[in-house]
Amino acid sequence: MEVQWAGVEVPRMGPQHTAVGLIFSLLLGAWYVQGLEMSVGKIPFLQAVNGSTVLLPCTYLSCIGIKDLYFSWSFNENGTMQKVCDSYIVSEESKPEVSIYRERVEFIGKNIDRNVSILLWNITFEDAGEWTCFGRNPKEKGRNHSTIFTLIVVDELRVVDNTLTIIIASAVGGGIAGLMAFMLLKNFTLFVLAKLEEKNKECLVTSSGIDNTENGLSGSKADSKPTPKRK
Ligand SMILES: *[C@@H]1O[C@H](CO)[C@@H](O)[C@H](O)[C@H]1NC(C)=O
Ligand SMILES: *[C@@H]1O[C@H](CO)[C@@H](O)[C@H](O)[C@H]1NC(C)=O
Ligand SMILES: *[C@@H]1O[C@H](CO)[C@@H](O)[C@H](O)[C@H]1NC(C)=O
Ligand SMILES: *[C@@H]1O[C@H](CO)[C@@H](O)[C@H](O)[C@H]1NC(C)=O
Ligand SMILES: *[C@@H]1O[C@H](CO)[C@@H](O)[C@H](O)[C@H]1NC(C)=O
Repeated sequence: MEVQWAGVEVPRMGPQHTAVGLIFSLLLGAWYVQGLEMSVGKIPFLQAVNGSTVLLPCTYLSCIGIKDLYFSWSFNENGTMQKVCDSYIVSEESKPEVSIYRERVEFIGKNIDRNVSILLWNITFEDAGEWTCFGRNPKEKGRNHSTIFTLIVVDELRVVDNTLTIIIASAVGGGIAGLMAFMLLKNFTLFVLAKLEEKNKECLVTSSGIDNTENGLSGSKADSKPTPKRK
């Protein structure tokens, strides 16, 4: 079957291409899943007010299991990686002894559910930047994996958030007002239409009534017509 589109012959992708693509992506997917993975979750950044305490999340995932997994957190300070903490995790069940090299840092993941998250107490503006969670599993030929979590530190007096809130609030308020206006308008329109219809009916009835009075003959008509008028 030939593919025609607007009179131009479109080159087709044969079924063999699709199959190759499918196999390729399956292999890629399988390879990708097999390696060690460090994850900071779906949202890899956090905006927090100075002085607050924040959780820097990180979990590891390994399909073949771990043995003496090395993990570390480091902070990118002026372009150089400063080690924040590190440890070896013997197995998925063990609770590691973590060495901490930076102040106000606490290891709270405790390797529960492959959790290697840390807590950063009383953050300052110097804590803002890229935090890297790194892992290496000897069981997987020392394959390295790392992921970055970005911390944004803001002054609580910042107006940007408030402005945004106001914008959102007014947008929502505006939306509601618009909706109400629309509904009022709709109701008003319906009301006017109903009134017009009523008037039309009245007009019709009146004219027919006039008709009746003028004619003064068709008594049966005169009796039946006023009935809808009183409705
Ligand atoms: C945050 O920083 C601002 C500006 O430097 C300062 O005035 C404020 O006290 C700080 N807040 C906390 C909780 O440290
Ligand atoms: C990074 O830069 C800031 C200001 O530029 C400085 O105060 C700080 O000491 C620097 N840190 C390192 C590790 O060089
Ligand atoms: C954080 O700040 C509070 C209040 O200023 C203080 O009591 C606490 O010891 C600080 N924690 C750390 C880990 O520095
Ligand atoms: C990791 O552990 C901390 C502290 O128990 C918890 O708050 C956090 O939700 C955990 N993260 C995940 C992904 O389980
Ligand atoms: C993993 O990283 C370390 C340095 O941190 C390096 O020596 C090693 O060769 C890397 N391994 C792989 C498999 O890339």
